[in-house]
Amino acid sequence: MNKQQKEEYMKKYKMLKEQGVPFFPDIVFKDAVVWLAVFLLMSALAIFVGVHMEGKANPNDASYIPRPEWYFLFLYQYLKYWPGSLEPIAATVIPGIAILFLLFLPFYDTNPKRHPLNRPVATTIMTLVVIAMVVLTYVSVVTEAKPTKTAAAGQTKAEIIKTGKALFEKNCAGCHGPDGKGVKGVTHLPLNSDDFLNTRTDDVIHNIISAGQPSVGMQAFGAANGGPLSDEQIDAIIAYMRSWQEGGAAQATPTPSAAKKFDPADYYKKNCAVCHGANAEGKGSFPALDKAATEHDLYFNTIMNGKGAMPSYKNKLTKDQINQIIDWLAHK
Ligand code: HEC
Ligand code: HEC
Repeated sequence: MNKQQKEEYMKKYKMLKEQGVPFFPDIVFKDAVVWLAVFLLMSALAIFVGVHMEGKANPNDASYIPRPEWYFLFLYQYLKYWPGSLEPIAATVIPGIAILFLLFLPFYDTNPKRHPLNRPVATTIMTLVVIAMVVLTYVSVVTEAKPTKTAAAGQTKAEIIKTGKALFEKNCAGCHGPDGKGVKGVTHLPLNSDDFLNTRTDDVIHNIISAGQPSVGMQAFGAANGGPLSDEQIDAIIAYMRSWQEGGAAQATPTPSAAKKFDPADYYKKNCAVCHGANAEGKGSFPALDKAATEHDLYFNTIMNGKGAMPSYKNKLTKDQINQIIDWLAHK
C-alpha cells in the first residue's frame, strides 16, 4: 500500500464509520437473533426428525465398513493417496501448515484491493481447494466399498439353510449330532432344544461359534479367531439351526404337521413356557402373563417386537397367530 492508497483508505474508513452502526450492541444483536433462529431450527430437527442410528457396535462384525460423515469424505479420500507410514504428516502437518498460512494472511498479504478478481493468487488457490474438495468427495462416494452382505446377496433363505446344513454336518455334527440333538459323552446341551434356541439371540450364538467356549471343549470356528468359518458361513449355520425351530429337526420344507392349524396352547408350551412358566404364572424375573384380557395392545407389541430379554416373534408368528395366543392367554 502506498501513501496515496493509504490516505484514500483512511478517508473512506472515516466516512463509513460516521454512517455506520457500532459493533456492540447493534451487530452483536443481529448475530444473536440469527443464531437463536439456527439453534431453534436445529433443536426442532433433533426433536421431530432425529438422526438414524446404526446398530450397536459389534467387534465381531468384520464386514462392517466404517465411513466418516459426508462432509469429511474429501479428507478421508485425500488420506488414501498417502502411504500408511506418512499418514501423520498427511493428517496433521499439512493441514496444520494450511491453517497457519491462513492465520498469518493479514501479515503477508497487505493488498488493499478486495474484489476477488484483483486478488488472483488468493482466488486461484481457493478455487483449486474447493474444486479438489468437490472432486475428492465425488471420488470417495463412487468408489465406496459395498459391505459384503452377510446373507450372501441373492441367496434365498432355503439356499442359505442348505449351505448351513452342509457346514453343520461337516464341522459340528461330530460333537453336536447331525440334527443338533447332541452326542452322548461329548456334549450335554442339545442345540436343537427350544430351551437353547429361544434363550439366545443370533448375535450370542454367532459369538459362541466364532470365539468358541474353550473351557468346555467347544473350539473357536470364526476366521477372526483362527477358525475355518467366515462370518457368512457362521450365519448360514445359525439360519440352519433356526430352521429346527420352525419345522422340526433339519427340515427346511414344512411337514404336514407344521402346516396344520395353529394351536396357541401348543405353541405357548413349546416356545414361551421356558420363560413364562407352564401356566403363564411367571418365573423369577419373567413376568406372569395374567393381564391378557385388559392389556391386549401392550401384549401384542411385546410379542411382536420383543422387549429386553423377551425375544421378538415378528419373524416367527403372523399377526393373527399372535392375536390367537393373546386370546388364548385371556381365556385359559
Ligand atoms: C469337538 C467337539 C465340538 C465341535 C466340533 C463343536 N462343538 Fe459346539 N460345543 C462343544 C461342547 C463340549 C460344548 C459345551 C456345551 C455342551 O457340553 O453341550 C459346545 C457348545 C456349543 C454351543 C453353546 C451351547 C450353550 O450352552 O451356550 C454352541 C452354540 C455350539 N457349541 C455350536 C457349535 C457349532 C455351530 C459347531 C460347528 C461349527 C460346533 N459347535 C462344533 C463341542 C463341540
Ligand atoms: C427368553 C425368555 C422369554 C421367552 C422365550 C418369551 N418371553 Fe415373554 N417376556 C420375557 C421377559 C424377560 C419379559 C419382560 C420384558 C420387560 O418388561 O422388559 C417378557 C414379557 C412378555 C410380555 C409382556 C408382559 C407384561 O406384563 O408386560 C408378554 C405378553 C410376553 N412376554 C409374551 C410371550 C409369549 C406369548 C411368548 C412365546 C411366544 C414369550 N413371551 C416368550 C421373556 C421371554
